[in-house]
Amino acid sequence: MAPRSLSSASRSQDGSARSTVPPPPGAERLLAGVGAPGAAMSLDAHLDRWGPLPPWKGAAFLDELDRSGLRGHGGAWFPVGTKWRSVERAGMRSPVVVANGAEGEPASGKDRVLIQQLPHLVLDGAVLAATSVGAGQVFVHVHTHAVPAVTRAIEERRRRNLDPCAIDIVVAPDRFLAGQETAVVSTIVGRKPATPTFVGLRPIREQGVGGRPTLVQNVESLAHAALIARFGAEWFRRIGTPESPGTVLLTVVGRWAEPQVVEARLGVPLGETLGLSTDDARSIQGVLLGGYGGGWITTREALAMPLTEEAARQYGSSIGCGVVALLPSEVCALSEVSRVVSYLEGEGAGQCGPCVNGLAVLANAMEQLAFRPSALRGGAAAIPTLCGLVEGRGACRHPDGVARFVRSALRVYEDHAALHLKRGPCRSPAPPFLPIPRTARRKGAR
Ligand SMILES: Cc1cc2nc3c(=O)[nH]c(=O)nc-3n(C[C@H](O)[C@H](O)[C@H](O)COP(=O)(O)O)c2cc1C
Ligand code: SF4
Repeated sequence: MAPRSLSSASRSQDGSARSTVPPPPGAERLLAGVGAPGAAMSLDAHLDRWGPLPPWKGAAFLDELDRSGLRGHGGAWFPVGTKWRSVERAGMRSPVVVANGAEGEPASGKDRVLIQQLPHLVLDGAVLAATSVGAGQVFVHVHTHAVPAVTRAIEERRRRNLDPCAIDIVVAPDRFLAGQETAVVSTIVGRKPATPTFVGLRPIREQGVGGRPTLVQNVESLAHAALIARFGAEWFRRIGTPESPGTVLLTVVGRWAEPQVVEARLGVPLGETLGLSTDDARSIQGVLLGGYGGGWITTREALAMPLTEEAARQYGSSIGCGVVALLPSEVCALSEVSRVVSYLEGEGAGQCGPCVNGLAVLANAMEQLAFRPSALRGGAAAIPTLCGLVEGRGACRHPDGVARFVRSALRVYEDHAALHLKRGPCRSPAPPFLPIPRTARRKGAR
């Protein structure tokens, strides 16, 4: 197969560029490029499928990115264009771009699928970001399992002299916090891997790796940007809502025998996206949206809710990293919540008060509610007060994520908690449902 050169992209009158290859017509946009399971798409196949990355010059792509309304898919759903602009304007020193594929959320698998199977789409997005913000260096921050695919992809691109910047791989530690942006910087500079830092008043967008402005962007966000560069903002907005445009990769747990990564249209009710009937819904006792940094929603709310970040926030949740876990009715929800909170407590970096003291107290209270309810002083009503003690007080948002997870669980499983307090813990023989990594630092997690 003959490689296409960058010059085969067409240039429109306003100076922007478009791909010569037609855009994918349906809701499968990123996943329309996935071939055989597990196999990484070669550079030739990638160019054949998507066409070359159009030659956007300097910051010209930023206006298109703003028009697209693309938001970050790593957790916070922050507007991508706004972030690229602030890095581009951050100062005299050449910025650094990080493609963040750390995927610390144990239930998430979508970044792994992307980086292992579509490495060139992610690299295109990272190179586009580097060109747009004036960076000469890209770091690809991934787990060891993705290193062979990314190494091959970088070598393929080097042989064709495709990229105007250096691209290097940094291995992400296997920790929940590995993907938090200041922790990513710590790992890259070899300070304290996977440990968030106190950055004072200067965010890493201004002062990150080596004191340079640093753009940390989730790999899915970068892959979407690479498609917007080819097919334009208007095409991107044909799906989704004005505030949450485009599609999202979801890792769905509990719908099929094995967790699956699917690409969903934003704005469509979750029940419709997952093909869940009212009958199916009876066997689901609640939905965790956004992973362990997200929040619980009742089954009825979740299935009817249009899948947008705005709607999720109204229920005290977030699409976050795109995990959708459907909790089977035979599992004790409170024991699941307790296991996860104990895990999250163990994953704190142990350098500020809320993590050192607050999360331990919260984990203990959830453990009592789940397994020893008679020991819980003040009943379930005492737990939101403990959440209030950790919220907004850490140097990073880890404690806030834990508090959201707990608060949302108490709302959705209020009746279940009342039953525990009245009759004692469940005696469910069902095995644990939500995944906890084997490498987790265990502090009494069951
Ligand atoms: C506790 C915590 C863990 C995080 N873990 C990840 C992660 O594993 N992967 C990721 O892309 N972003 C993660 N983030 C978000 C990053 O800090 C950062 O905002 C994100 O990578 C930026 O990319 P985006 O704007 O494309 O979402 C985490 C944030 C927090 C507070
Ligand atoms: S809040 Fe916790 S995880 Fe975040 S920096 Fe402080 S100790 Fe570390």
